[in-house]
Amino acid sequence: MSTHIIGVGGYLPEHIMTNDDLAQIVDTSDTWIRERTGITQRHIIDKDEYTSDLATRAAAQALEDAGLSIDDMDAIVVATTTPDMIFPSTASMVQHKLGGKGFPAWDIQAVCSGFVYGLAQVDGMMKGGMFKRVLLIGAESMSRILDWQDRNTCVLFGDGAGAVVLEFNDDEGGVVGSVLHCDGSYRDLLLAKHAHPGASPHHTRAKQDRLNMNTDAAGVAAVEMKGNEVFRFAVTKLGEVVKEVLEKYDVAQSDVDWLVPHQANIRILNATAKKLGLTADQVALTVAQHANTSAASVPLALNDIYRAGKVKKGQLLLLEAFAGGFAWGANLVRWSK
Ligand code: UT7
Repeated sequence: MSTHIIGVGGYLPEHIMTNDDLAQIVDTSDTWIRERTGITQRHIIDKDEYTSDLATRAAAQALEDAGLSIDDMDAIVVATTTPDMIFPSTASMVQHKLGGKGFPAWDIQAVCSGFVYGLAQVDGMMKGGMFKRVLLIGAESMSRILDWQDRNTCVLFGDGAGAVVLEFNDDEGGVVGSVLHCDGSYRDLLLAKHAHPGASPHHTRAKQDRLNMNTDAAGVAAVEMKGNEVFRFAVTKLGEVVKEVLEKYDVAQSDVDWLVPHQANIRILNATAKKLGLTADQVALTVAQHANTSAASVPLALNDIYRAGKVKKGQLLLLEAFAGGFAWGANLVRWSK
């Protein structure tokens, strides 16, 4: 018996902000952003949308893909850094919006590594006999916690949601296993300070303009990052963690068919792909269109290659992410759909 991905979905808000749009707001250029990050555009959540709305749409697509309804689920887990409110959980709102009731729903917070952490957590719970079917979602509205005056950070992120339906069954393949890490001593290199998330339109709506770019409302958190140091640490730790997960589960590097990486910077994910000896067409790549959607980025990248019909049954996928904390990790999945 193992944990299988039996449905995949994704959702991106309609509004697209290009690099040129950004150059109207801060001192930057399309060339700088493309060359340093690989990003060309990002999707930005609408004024009246919430993280739970993005999550609900991605989840609905994943349920449809699995041929199941919300009543078939035993739990909902949402990985997010930008919940609608401090409480209740975004997962509980998604449950309600999908018409579910009674079964457990909760959020997890591991920033950009949230989906990788979530997959490890749910897999462990399924192996422990807790659940047969779980909706796991990564959803973010990062645009609401950015300082739109800070060119070091505001060019890097976007909004969106990705979701999978997980089922514990005796089919061949499924989740092989995971490795997770955290080192809280690096807190000051990548953070959003205020405990009050300000991610909620409840608190900022009055001041928001069309693009939700206001962040000067009291209590609104803003992402701060020492990019260069994060970059170096990310490249090193991701290189280590992908080797670690392969060694732990006794899998040869050459058996990996797909790298499904967190989409922070094309230079970071290329470095990891190179360490694994993978070619460009073996890497799920969405950073150009989506930018960094934090916890949504890995499931959105998975959704992208899945919808394009590129992932084949029996192939081995290596998912990885690096996040504020620092928190990082990897999952190995033998595709069984
Ligand atoms: O998802 C969580 C993990 N996050 C990450 O992994 C992000 C990791 N970091 C990065 O991706 C990169 O470090 C960045 C893309 C953030 C920055 O790239 P870099 O090659 O490390 O550039 P840098 O920080 O060394 O900055 C180079 C220059 C600086 O100017 P000076 O001091 O050399 O004159 C910056 O002020 O680029 C300047 N700069 C910009 N210029 C135009 C910084 N941001 C911008 C900008 N447009 N948006």
